[in-house]
Amino acid sequence: MAKESKKLKASGTPSYTVPGLSNEQGAEVAAILQNRLNALTDLHLTLKHVHWNVVGPHFIAVHQMLDPQVDAVREMSDAVAERIATLGMSPIGTPGALVAERDWDDYSIGRAGAIEHLGALDLVYTGVIKDHRSAIEATGEIDPVTEDLLTGQAGQLEQYHWFVRAHLETAGGELSTAGAGTEQQATRKAGERAGVKRQSA
Ligand SMILES: [Fe+2]
Repeated sequence: MAKESKKLKASGTPSYTVPGLSNEQGAEVAAILQNRLNALTDLHLTLKHVHWNVVGPHFIAVHQMLDPQVDAVREMSDAVAERIATLGMSPIGTPGALVAERDWDDYSIGRAGAIEHLGALDLVYTGVIKDHRSAIEATGEIDPVTEDLLTGQAGQLEQYHWFVRAHLETAGGELSTAGAGTEQQATRKAGERAGVKRQSA
């Protein structure tokens, strides 16, 4: 693979698509799905990164909690990519294309405590789920089959989000990450609530 190789980019209109949609509609739905494919691929890689980098108290619980999420989100990526192909377009699954096309930043936390990573993952899941809901709305008018696929995924993602948030929640039902706008802030707030002593940085 030459370093200067061009990144793949989804474009154009398919020469066929699923029955009942125009080729233009197929392309439109596939473009929305390509964005969700990028997000889901990014998410399962990020979850594995956290699985590897989590340390401290609750290590084993969080390390083990994340692997089934990785597997399930990979399956979601697969389903979305295959729906793009079904619609007559080419799903783009290469890392360079993902990085070039995504409009969010790379996960920013390296080795850190379990609660701190979960604080950051609260924000990660919030972003993915919000965008999935937007995609559900955007595809609903054109293609209820894609809408149904994304709706099922959103329900599963929201359950995983709850698994994460349950670690950050007080008995009064408040989230330690409330009001955090960045992963760094969420990490700090979650850590503070859990009594994590931080080295000054
Ligand atoms: Fe592992």
